[in-house]
Amino acid sequence: MNLVNNSFTRNITRSYRITEFFRFFMFIIMLTTFCGCEDKVGCDNDITADEFWDTWIHGFFLSYCTGCHSSGTTNRFGAPEGVDFDSQDDVYFWLERIDIRVVQEESMPPGGGVLEEDIERFQLWLECH
Ligand code: HEC
Repeated sequence: MNLVNNSFTRNITRSYRITEFFRFFMFIIMLTTFCGCEDKVGCDNDITADEFWDTWIHGFFLSYCTGCHSSGTTNRFGAPEGVDFDSQDDVYFWLERIDIRVVQEESMPPGGGVLEEDIERFQLWLECH
């Protein structure tokens, strides 16, 4: 009698645990679904892609690109006319090519030299805006 009771209690406890685990699991799924973009730079902490342009992306282009790709540069080092990254609009216009050359092929700037962490950050911005 005692034994039966014990296994009954154990079964109840176990199925309760499974339910609890399932709930917790669903909670995690929900978290990752709703917050999917939140651990990405540029989307996180209410920073919009536009604000991220001001705080970081613009600087990225100034450091790595506008020496050649700017309407104001004195020597383009062969950079095609019109491929300039002076403004956010310019960058949006060339975004697909920039993604390919900087992130996928890593063939711009021609000599390389973009820090790996900068490429990663830049890629996150591309993905979330
Ligand atoms: C030292 C000068 C120089 C720098 C710095 C430079 N580029 Fe270029 N860029 C070139 C030259 C030269 C070409 C034309 C030859 C070629 O396409 O490889 C070019 C072409 C391009 C093109 C047009 C060709 C295409 O594939 O559509 C894009 C887009 C581009 N660069 C993006 C960038 C970005 C983004 C940066 C900064 C991360 C950058 N470049 C930095 C010299 C430069």
